[in-house]
Amino acid sequence: MKPMIKYRGGKSKEIPNIMWHVPRFTGRYIEPFFGGGALFFYLEPRQAIINDINVKLMKFYRGVRDDYSNLRK
Ligand SMILES: C[S@@+](CC[C@H](N)C(=O)[O-])C[C@H]1O[C@@H](n2cnc3c(N)ncnc32)[C@H](O)[C@@H]1O
Repeated sequence: MKPMIKYRGGKSKEIPNIMWHVPRFTGRYIEPFFGGGALFFYLEPRQAIINDINVKLMKFYRGVRDDYSNLRK
C-alpha cells in the first residue's frame, strides 16, 4: 500500500534501498517517527505501534483507524 499523504522527508523512493536492511520478523512493528509511514504502508504489518511528535498528523491517523467513514466525508 502507498502512504496516505505526501509528507516532507517521506521514504517512499528509498524503499528498495531500505528493504535490504529490514530483517524478516514476526510480532509487532514499532515506528517511533512515523511521518508519512512509507515503510509501514509498504510492509503492511498486522500489528503495529506508531508514533509521531506531530499532533495533527497523529490525529489524522487516529481518525483513519477509529472513524474512517467520517474522516473521508
Ligand atoms: C522523515 S519523517 C519519517 C519518515 C517515515 N518514517 C517514512 O517511512 O516515510 C520524520 C518524522 O519524525 C517526526 N519526529 C521528529 N522528532 C520526533 C520526536 N522526538 N518524537 C517523535 N517523532 C518525531 C517528525 O514529526 C516527522 O514526521
